[in-house]
Amino acid sequence: MMPPLNITRMNYDLARLRPEQLESYWDEKKPNHFPTGTFEHPGIWFELGAGTGWFFTSLAAQHPDKRLIAIERSRMRGRRLVQRCKRTGLANILGFRGNAIGALVNEVPTESLERLYILYPCPWLRNSQRKNRWYLHPLMKHFHRVLKPEGLMIWASDQEFYINEAEYVCRTQYNLKGLAWGQITPNPYNHLDQFPQGRTKFEFTFLQSGQPCYELIVTKS
Ligand SMILES: C[S@@+](CC[C@H](N)C(=O)[O-])C[C@H]1O[C@@H](n2cnc3c(N)ncnc32)[C@H](O)[C@@H]1O
Repeated sequence: MMPPLNITRMNYDLARLRPEQLESYWDEKKPNHFPTGTFEHPGIWFELGAGTGWFFTSLAAQHPDKRLIAIERSRMRGRRLVQRCKRTGLANILGFRGNAIGALVNEVPTESLERLYILYPCPWLRNSQRKNRWYLHPLMKHFHRVLKPEGLMIWASDQEFYINEAEYVCRTQYNLKGLAWGQITPNPYNHLDQFPQGRTKFEFTFLQSGQPCYELIVTKS
């Protein structure tokens, strides 16, 4: 049985968020990941923490009318992501190695993304590290800012608590409307029917080992 959400603790965490501190830190650094014009496209799908880019490179081939942007911080995975994107020869996928925090704070324009994918982020299991969970992070404000009206935020995790906590924050702090919530099953938004063995490397590994996976899909109304 999943323990119930600790709403009091979550509200305490949310009340202590200081996005201004994050913004002034990244303002000084001014990252530069994206060429001019990157966000001038009506259908941009963005993946944060894309690993080596398995999922987004396949998705780009299936959706030539969309522009897919994948970003990964780790040096090894990021390098492989960039190479994999280039190897596809597709004009509609861009892979970047870099920190998505700076990118989202300073570079991604308001209401520019049709979809934001956050698939199998580190769940920061220890209580003392919980402020790093994306929905308790000051970056969450920017997830909401960059999403277009009716845009989708697509979360997946092997940790049920992570998805339940994300749902609480999306609903109560940002008024995002739930489209799917719970153990993953194919639906019109998640492309699972095209990737029955798993969309990403982590999802593939979890499903192969019989570990259930969970998702949350919300939309900005
Ligand atoms: C658990 S892995 C999941 C990778 C991939 N989404 C998958 O499902 O196979 C989480 C990834 O997020 C990346 N990541 C964490 N923080 C990041 C950040 N600030 N910017 C970009 N990538 C980040 C990590 O380097 C790691 O590769």
